[in-house]
Amino acid sequence: MNYKEIRTQFLKFFEEKNHKIFPSAPMVVKDDPTLMFTNAGMNQFKEFFLGNSVSKNKRIADTQKCLPVSGKHNDLEEVGKDTYHHTMFEMLGNWSFGDYFKKEAIAWAWELLTDRLKIVKDSLYVSVFEGSKDADKLVMDKEAYSLWSAIVPEERIILGNKKDNFWEMGDQGPCGPCSEIHVDIRPAEEKAKIPGASLVNQDHPLVVEIWNLVFIQYNRKADGKLEPLPEKHVDTGMGFERLCMVLQNVQSNYDTDVFTPIILEIETITNSKYGVKEDTDIAIRVIADHIRAVAFSIADGQLPSNTGAGYVIRRILRRAI
Ligand code: SER
Repeated sequence: MNYKEIRTQFLKFFEEKNHKIFPSAPMVVKDDPTLMFTNAGMNQFKEFFLGNSVSKNKRIADTQKCLPVSGKHNDLEEVGKDTYHHTMFEMLGNWSFGDYFKKEAIAWAWELLTDRLKIVKDSLYVSVFEGSKDADKLVMDKEAYSLWSAIVPEERIILGNKKDNFWEMGDQGPCGPCSEIHVDIRPAEEKAKIPGASLVNQDHPLVVEIWNLVFIQYNRKADGKLEPLPEKHVDTGMGFERLCMVLQNVQSNYDTDVFTPIILEIETITNSKYGVKEDTDIAIRVIADHIRAVAFSIADGQLPSNTGAGYVIRRILRRAI
């Protein structure tokens, strides 16, 4: 499947589950003082989660342009060095606003990946929040664990700490425990030597998170306290470029058809070759990634400049140069 078909498959699947397909919000955020850029698909729906406004649709799905380069979810320095981080990426997401919760979110994610998209079940690992002993005193997500254990063998269910399995939008805002789905795309002989479970969340380029299912239940207040929300919601986010990597049977996001045309053009303009020398490869990946981020930022209304959000774009441009 090419990347356009993959995107369509995702949206079609959730349309069949009665989700309204929504356009991506602009990547540049002008109306939320806690954010400069969209860092997650759920940003445009924040007010629905908090109960400050009511969505006309209780179920939505979309693909959102994200730029997690400032604030809490910041990957800028990693980009280009490895094969699976980006400044700008697309996040495929499905949402429930006070409608379905963990049971459906988990079952549908599994159905889409294994039944519809035919990802081999044995290559998937899932994680569940183990609870926390800090000031928040959060309990383990036993409900998610029991839902997963009905479909995934226990040796492929991993308990995760607050850093990995409690998702927060920023210092403030909607948050909750999450279950991540990780995929192991290493060759069979590698898999036989080291079990995939031990490589989850260990920065292995071929054992990567592809989908995060967040069960939004709280609002993190400005004073740091967690306040339970009046309703429970679902916020999922799947890395589109990583999904393309898996479905196109390649081992780098940059080897998918999302990036190969850009890389080809960079090779032509710079008279260099991708895939020969590591230093050159990093440089080409940085340019391929950053040019996309800068182009989309400008198209969405943010020019490079000396201050604020514009300065972030300027830094990306400068890093590419
Ligand atoms: N908000 C979650 C994330 O960004 C899931 O969409 O990972």
